[in-house]
Amino acid sequence: MIKQAIIPLAGLGTRLLPLTSVFAKELLPINGKPGIEYILDECIDAGIEEVVFIISKKKLMIKNYFYKDSFYKKIIKKKKDPRVIKEYKKILKYKKMIKFVYQNKPLGTGDAVLKTKKYIKDKFFLMLLPDDLIIKHNCSKSMMRIHNRHKSSIMASMNVSRKTVSRWGIYKLGKKINKTNYFVNDVIEKPSASKAPSNKAVIGRYILPKTIFSKLSKQKPGKGGEIHITDAIQSLIKENEKFIAHNFAGKYLDCGSMQGYINSTVEISKI
Ligand code: G1P
Repeated sequence: MIKQAIIPLAGLGTRLLPLTSVFAKELLPINGKPGIEYILDECIDAGIEEVVFIISKKKLMIKNYFYKDSFYKKIIKKKKDPRVIKEYKKILKYKKMIKFVYQNKPLGTGDAVLKTKKYIKDKFFLMLLPDDLIIKHNCSKSMMRIHNRHKSSIMASMNVSRKTVSRWGIYKLGKKINKTNYFVNDVIEKPSASKAPSNKAVIGRYILPKTIFSKLSKQKPGKGGEIHITDAIQSLIKENEKFIAHNFAGKYLDCGSMQGYINSTVEISKI
């Protein structure tokens, strides 16, 4: 059973400027609730017990959000507002399960993952990218089920338009397991349309093996000079580590772009 998850949160969020000039994008409200809480709720519902947040000094606001105990206590003492009491209990529950590590230089998702090395206890762990919200279906939970059956690494996946392949990690299909799960033969970070092996994109949910840390510690910078998790996954695949692409059932919302962020509020308010 996978009990630990990691969430990279050190990104600058430039696609959401000007909001991110003073605000952490993961705290921006989506239908009245910070985006990060949707991600945490997905983890809790999937049975995760500990979450490692990778933040930076610039994003200490995220840690502060979970550490406002004296403020809550003062308000609760004064007003006894049941809504505030409920919210405080929820924040306390999150706080208990979160650990913080720091990535002060934006060197890429692979580098962020490497920062969590000393905290990961089991053979496999879950990673969620907070820009990617998946609603109506718990994608992490479905991936855990597949992991339990196959004991392998998993990546969430969906078909994207050929025109947008250079925005994603794109993989080459291997053997079919069933209608929604395939083995992955190759994965390439943000390929050009001519180099893309398919239009199948990796979406921000991964079940990764602990062995990825040794790959990451040797990983050279790739696209855009960053250390990509995708490149470390490709190295593992080449050494015969099994990776399954899982076509998830929920609806994908890209909260990292302004249009996607606005749309996510509209979509979630409909549920
Ligand atoms: C990251 C990954 C990419 C993946 C994408 C999903 O890219 O590097 O492989 O397809 O998340 O959202 P980023 O969004 O950080 O550019």
